[in-house]
Amino acid sequence: MSVSMRHARELLQQAELLYPAEQVQEALRNVAREINAALSETQPLVLSVMGGAVVFSGQLLPLLDFPLDFDYVHVSRYGDARQGGQMHWKVAPRETVRGRVVLVLDDILDEGHTLDAVRQRVMELGASKFYSAVFVDKQHGRDKPIHADFVGLEVPDRFVFGYGMDVEGAWRNLPAIYAVREG
Ligand code: IMP
Ligand code: MG
Repeated sequence: MSVSMRHARELLQQAELLYPAEQVQEALRNVAREINAALSETQPLVLSVMGGAVVFSGQLLPLLDFPLDFDYVHVSRYGDARQGGQMHWKVAPRETVRGRVVLVLDDILDEGHTLDAVRQRVMELGASKFYSAVFVDKQHGRDKPIHADFVGLEVPDRFVFGYGMDVEGAWRNLPAIYAVREG
């Protein structure tokens, strides 16, 4: 369930703008350039982690200049709460990853449990190589079980939203990235 429209508008009004849309697009072009340089000969299977990665994936794919296959997984950890919770597979990685170079796209690397779980499933299913790209890497100073190969932007240890990331179910559609103002 998402929050009421009025509450969603208040959340945005009170939020702090971290990266305006132009900076988001510049970071996107940089990530695309790095992926083009690294993966152009691999014909990867690109797996988008629904639903947070939908905006990143949708804008990144047209910037990639090599042939690729596309599929998705759907895992959620947060539900609507702002604290991390149980991992819930709605669509797990499929047999199609066997023998493939896999590039997983996600919106944000926070504690890293989500991406780590995706990597484990993908490698168990016999992928030949695993790469990951996250649009945002949260800097919280704690060890992460996985680091992304490609990162768009860094954010502080705050709850962020926009560019695919939701706050209480809302605002995945924003072209910029905001942080919730605490207190
Ligand atoms: P992790 O398992 O802690 O790395 O969590 C990653 C997932 O949690 C992401 O795919 C997001 O869906 C969600 N998430 C983590 N931090 C935030 C945040 O600050 N805003 C919105 N979603 C977040
Ligand atoms: Mg997610």
